[in-house]
Amino acid sequence: MVEAMSRRKTLNFPLILTVLTIHFVIVAGEYFKPFNVTYDNRALIIGGKRRMLISAGIHYPRATPEMWPTLIARSKEGGADVIETYTFWNGHEPTRGQYNFEGRYDIVKFAKLVGSHGLFLFIRIGPYACAEWNFGGFPIWLRDIPGIEFRTDNAPFKEEMERYVKKIVDLMISESLFSWQGGPIILLQIENEYGNVESSFGPKGKLYMKWAAEMAVGLGAGVPWVMCRQTDAPEYIIDTCNAYYCDGFTPNSEKKPKIWTENWNGWFADWGERLPYRPSEDIAFAIARFFQRGGSLQNYYMYFGGTNFGRTAGGPTQITSYDYDAPLDEYGLLRQPKWGHLKDLHAAIKLCEPALVAADSPQYIKLGPKQEAHVYRGTSNNIGQYMSLNEGICAAFIANIDEHESATVKFYGQEFTLPPWSVSILPDCRNTAFNTAKVGAQTSIKTVGSDSVSVGNNSLFLQVITKSKLESFSQSWMTLKEPLGVWGDKNFTSKGILEHLNVTKDQSDYLWYLTRIYISDDDISFWEENDVSPTIDIDSMRDFVRIFVNGQLAGSVKGKWIKVVQPVKLVQGYNDILLLSETVGLQNYGAFLEKDGAGFKGQIKLTGCKSGDINLTTSLWTYQVGLRGEFLEVYDVNSTESAGWTEFPTGTTPSVFSWYKTKFDAPGGTDPVALDFSSMGKGQAWVNGHHVGRYWTLVAPNNGCGRTCDYRGAYHSDKCRTNCGEITQAWYHIPRSWLKTLNNVLVIFEETDKTPFDISISTRSTETICAQVSEKHYPPLHKWSHSEFDRKLSLMDKTPEMHLQCDEGHTISSIEFASYGSPNGSCQKFSQGKCHAANSLSVVSQACIGRTSCSIGISNGVFGDPCRHVVKSLAVQAKCSPPPDLSTSASS
Ligand SMILES: *[C@@H]1O[C@H](CO)[C@@H](O)[C@H](O)[C@H]1NC(C)=O
Ligand SMILES: *[C@@H]1O[C@H](CO)[C@@H](O)[C@H](O)[C@H]1NC(C)=O
Ligand SMILES: *[C@@H]1O[C@H](CO)[C@@H](O)[C@H](O)[C@H]1NC(C)=O
Ligand SMILES: *[C@@H]1O[C@H](CO)[C@@H](O)[C@H](O)[C@H]1NC(C)=O
Ligand SMILES: *[C@@H]1O[C@H](CO)[C@@H](O)[C@H](O)[C@H]1NC(C)=O
Ligand SMILES: *[C@@H]1O[C@H](CO)[C@@H](O)[C@H](O)[C@H]1NC(C)=O
Repeated sequence: MVEAMSRRKTLNFPLILTVLTIHFVIVAGEYFKPFNVTYDNRALIIGGKRRMLISAGIHYPRATPEMWPTLIARSKEGGADVIETYTFWNGHEPTRGQYNFEGRYDIVKFAKLVGSHGLFLFIRIGPYACAEWNFGGFPIWLRDIPGIEFRTDNAPFKEEMERYVKKIVDLMISESLFSWQGGPIILLQIENEYGNVESSFGPKGKLYMKWAAEMAVGLGAGVPWVMCRQTDAPEYIIDTCNAYYCDGFTPNSEKKPKIWTENWNGWFADWGERLPYRPSEDIAFAIARFFQRGGSLQNYYMYFGGTNFGRTAGGPTQITSYDYDAPLDEYGLLRQPKWGHLKDLHAAIKLCEPALVAADSPQYIKLGPKQEAHVYRGTSNNIGQYMSLNEGICAAFIANIDEHESATVKFYGQEFTLPPWSVSILPDCRNTAFNTAKVGAQTSIKTVGSDSVSVGNNSLFLQVITKSKLESFSQSWMTLKEPLGVWGDKNFTSKGILEHLNVTKDQSDYLWYLTRIYISDDDISFWEENDVSPTIDIDSMRDFVRIFVNGQLAGSVKGKWIKVVQPVKLVQGYNDILLLSETVGLQNYGAFLEKDGAGFKGQIKLTGCKSGDINLTTSLWTYQVGLRGEFLEVYDVNSTESAGWTEFPTGTTPSVFSWYKTKFDAPGGTDPVALDFSSMGKGQAWVNGHHVGRYWTLVAPNNGCGRTCDYRGAYHSDKCRTNCGEITQAWYHIPRSWLKTLNNVLVIFEETDKTPFDISISTRSTETICAQVSEKHYPPLHKWSHSEFDRKLSLMDKTPEMHLQCDEGHTISSIEFASYGSPNGSCQKFSQGKCHAANSLSVVSQACIGRTSCSIGISNGVFGDPCRHVVKSLAVQAKCSPPPDLSTSASS
């Protein structure tokens, strides 16, 4: 949230913000014919019809408004019906009573875009968001309200919370964004995972929870409210599940539908850690199981994770990227094969929707020790548009939950073979439209790196990132030295150790603490004689501290409430002890966040002196909030010239705590842009005044990644990890809308003595795509007699097709491999098998070269029959055209 200050505000002035005026003029709904949303035990009932819904989590401030339309469109194309987001109180009300609904915080614009794409919107107002977001979404000023205790039966807190929640609801009403106004909003959430912490507050916890529920429904939003992870939610609020798997979840009343508010399709990462990922086959399995066992709404947390721009990342020490291994990657590009596999899953679930909504509950059939089917059939007394089709409708899910072995089961007289840990979806109870792990030999275990399994339509995509260094980056840098310690008039002196956030109000990550101690000759000789060093001991510290003695860095420590023992070298006479306390994202999870604080706790002392320890806890300390460069806004494109920048020629020895500045031209084309900071140490960066985020080049441990990740068996965040031994985050997203064609200003604040000369810029796009699709070899579908349902089912019946697609702005430039027959191997290792149609390459080339995407039918009709009585497949490897030459756009 504080990122909002990066543009035009000094550290000591309130934000200049637009105070939004609400016009209570209800205009006719623009996006939908007004409709009501209710629910029963089976599902949300939207405009009178039960619906099975796929929801895509996208947090609007983690992208730019310019990215929103594409993200929403790609979610829709991927099969989403609903977009879900939290709201971010500290972004919307950075100063009490001064609201911000502009730019990345323009939630109204976001909601309208969702509506204009014909999608529904689910807003989790919170206001506690967690979300790996700074302070869990709470504004920092909230903790300064006298007598406040967060998230409990506390009058000051409830007053502030109600005011904010009402503000959001009223804003949405005023913009006609609720379903009954013809808007997209169908569902709201109050609080967030409160059940996890409720007991910490004793009896007051339950009182608060009930108050929050009542307050929310009293706001007149007119759509259902949920509380996630709240098993004691009142009757009129739907309690929902957040987890890796929610098929076993049941709401606390038979009148409520089974809703999965957070399907963790990936996980977040910390500085210096490995990157978690979750195999597509396992996510698909979890979702199929959820709908199999009566689920009705599933929300991806996250469908698009995006970026923690500025200082919005949560803590402790979470990275700037919030990629989350989501189906849309941090840059908004399709992550394949995940995106495609889940799209196919959604399509299969949609084929089942008529039967799923028609049945109040499934018929359960045990098929084996770890195999089971759930069958949904229409009966005559159900709600929904498909009522007239009555018993003609049937959909089934067959699961093999065995973690090791595939299984062959008999279901309605047919045999089905299921890979381990997989679900087959049969929209007509006869034919498999989809298997979560994909049937047959190609199914398997995902290999980290360039090997990948075939899933979905067997479309395998490899994303190869192109990276080019811009020449301009290694020339003409300017620099500006940041003073160590006290630098300006706003410094003050106080007895004792003040709590970090009490002093900074989170207007900066940095807080300087300076004190002076006298060391006698006796101490010096005592240390020399005994060959020992004195130490500075800090009882408890978070997130990062640098300890300087007499202007020299003695050491630095990263941690969360850990003890620090730092040996130091002191001289006879006065010694300056300078501590720099740094926050790296405020705590975002847990009870009592307002008491959590930052910086130091307990005592600070100098140990090992002859006369005993020196207690620094009671010393006089001089405080300075932030950096001079932050105060002077040297990152602002317009205020940089006067700040005292000097040339920084190549080969100059860098000094610690320096600002650097250069200009660069945008890479050509439209591909997403990233800066590579892997040559740097720790700091922050701005492009054209926009705060890119914190960077830190901590390296992940070299172990714990594993060559492969077996999708089988229960997932947890440590199960599948990548990036061992690598810098956790090397690349930083620079949204295209922040860039001009020429002369973009990059400003960096660097804490260590790393030089900026090796920073490079790159664009991201898919280079190589592979796919393998088999010809059809299942029996023809049984023909039902009804129309719409039939038409949908008949899609299953058509000739399989291979779809190849390059990123927007790229075309398929060459076909590196094509074989219709019995090709062997996998992406980048395909080879011709015994059976091969000689025209494979020419057919595929003709259909695809020069196009962004193409489709090829997989049948003898297209290629001729190279070998009879063999089930054939088509394997293709293609290259996408490269991005425009970066070097042509480099400035001279
Ligand atoms: C799979 O095939 C279907 C129709 O044949 C198509 O609509 C869908 O986009 C394909 N999925 C992927 C990931 O290409
Ligand atoms: C610290 O603040 C005092 C009083 O505000 C001021 O006189 C002094 O110059 C400041 N120190 C520095 C190094 O700017
Ligand atoms: C922070 O400041 C408040 C109000 O001035 C005070 O009550 C509280 O004790 C302080 N917190 C710490 C940890 O010093
Ligand atoms: C240091 O001073 C603080 C504050 O007066 C006191 O609570 C603490 O016990 C002292 N520590 C030592 C080691 O004397
Ligand atoms: C910088 O100055 C120019 C020219 O005065 C102005 O057009 C632009 O809006 C300013 N930019 C910012 C970020 O204040
Ligand atoms: C596929 O290729 C591998 C390695 O080249 C070979 O060992 C195997 O026999 C081949 N399989 C077929 C069916 O051609």
